[in-house]
Amino acid sequence: MALDGVPRRVGVVGYGRLGQSLVSHLLTQGPELGLELVFVWNRDPGRMAGSVPPALQLQNLAALGERHPDLVVEVAHPKIIQESGAKILRYSNLLVGSPSALADQATEQQLREASHRWHHAVFVARGALWGTEDITRLDAAGGLQSLRVTMATHPDGFRLEGRLAAVPSTGPRTVLYEGPVRGLCPLAPRNSNTMAAAALAAPSLGFDHVVGVLVADLSLTDMHVVEVELSGPPGPSGRSFAVHTHRENPAEPGAVTGSATVTAFWRSLLGCCQLPSRPGIHLC
Ligand SMILES: NC(=O)c1ccc[n+]([C@@H]2O[C@H](COP(=O)([O-])OP(=O)(O)OC[C@H]3O[C@@H](n4cnc5c(N)ncnc54)[C@H](O)[C@@H]3O)[C@@H](O)[C@H]2O)c1
Repeated sequence: MALDGVPRRVGVVGYGRLGQSLVSHLLTQGPELGLELVFVWNRDPGRMAGSVPPALQLQNLAALGERHPDLVVEVAHPKIIQESGAKILRYSNLLVGSPSALADQATEQQLREASHRWHHAVFVARGALWGTEDITRLDAAGGLQSLRVTMATHPDGFRLEGRLAAVPSTGPRTVLYEGPVRGLCPLAPRNSNTMAAAALAAPSLGFDHVVGVLVADLSLTDMHVVEVELSGPPGPSGRSFAVHTHRENPAEPGAVTGSATVTAFWRSLLGCCQLPSRPGIHLC
């Protein structure tokens, strides 16, 4: 499946679990798909030694324009989007792997402005969010009344900050947070990406009205569970439209990213390479 005649030049920012998987896919399958890896950047460059060809290692993120990327994929940390997202958009489309960064209103505004100024797209990887298009369609039709995303895993799978880091897990199942996704993202930036994707998929509710729930569950040693519950308008009988999905994703003990999510990211990368470079924020 070649994307079209011209190879797309792709840069990857972050070389952890997701970055290593994407780089490996790009090196092995990229050429036949019309994708060329043009750089990899990691905060700790030593991590790339021996597995990323030296010519592809980018030492200074600010120099990425010299590699002329068509798409930069961020799979590092929300801070990278907050600090460098708008600068990247000057040179390239951007695929955001850490959308919890967009809970910060200034960051979202900067990305939107840079996207329009430089005519580059901000793509957001749906990650673990099941039913993204259905949520967006219901929202666009004016029928989405509530949306709640629950993420449950073993406490070792969480990377929590601020007051959440101090909440003790009491008993086998502890609700660590329940409330607007905007409030959760800064406290659990690595574990709220699915909820942030939901907030972007449903702009009528957005970060302030999509509800995020974070649950520490001692029984989920090797799995991340994401539940999406939404309601729509009442039908003729008065009963409301409702959807409830339950996604069980096998994960290595203590990992932030489950196995199926790694595959979903590669599909997002391929998907956004087939979309036009339209200003604005688009889930893929
Ligand atoms: N959208 C989703 O559903 C979803 C799912 C899983 C992971 N993610 C996000 O994708 C990103 C990568 O995930 P991963 O599983 O590969 O994580 P990982 O911990 O395996 O790798 C992260 C990489 O980024 C680097 N990094 C960490 N903090 C950094 C910082 N402040 N500045 C620069 N570099 C930094 C690390 O050195 C590492 O190389 C994370 O932000 C994670 O939260 C999103």
